[in-house]
Amino acid sequence: MVEKTVVLIKPDGYQKKVVGQVIDRFERAGLSLVGLKLIRLTQEILDTWYAHHKDKPFFPSLCAQMMSTPVVAIVLEGDSCIQKVFDLCGPTDPVEAAPGTIRKDFGVDKPHNVVHRSDSAYAATKEIALLFSPQELYTSDV
Ligand code: CMP
Repeated sequence: MVEKTVVLIKPDGYQKKVVGQVIDRFERAGLSLVGLKLIRLTQEILDTWYAHHKDKPFFPSLCAQMMSTPVVAIVLEGDSCIQKVFDLCGPTDPVEAAPGTIRKDFGVDKPHNVVHRSDSAYAATKEIALLFSPQELYTSDV
């Protein structure tokens, strides 16, 4: 099934200048870029984006980190896109990730794990709507 998902290349990935390498991995996996921009996240966006983490002790530092530089917001499209992106990124903690995954190869620890990716079709729909207008997406269904 053709799906869409969101990836954010976070401030640690942006500062390490691995943006091109991260995007290359998605393209090599056959996924299509249908939305792409640099964006400065705000507290308002993050309150919605990370609503499920709002009560966690790391929420304030997570938000500060996510607002520290622009992030690269990407919408990817392709067959089984959500699972493919999940596998390419690896688990949240780079320490637990397998070699060859984005988080293992470029990440350090949970707060510095290079990328965010949608964890379900529901999350992807919500995250796309938060960051992209329909006119900014070059999808197969327009
Ligand atoms: P992300 O996929 O963006 O989703 C929420 C983020 O919170 C996660 O990646 C990590 O960067 C961060 N995170 C998750 N768990 C922890 C933790 N225990 N301590 C610090 N940061 C965390």
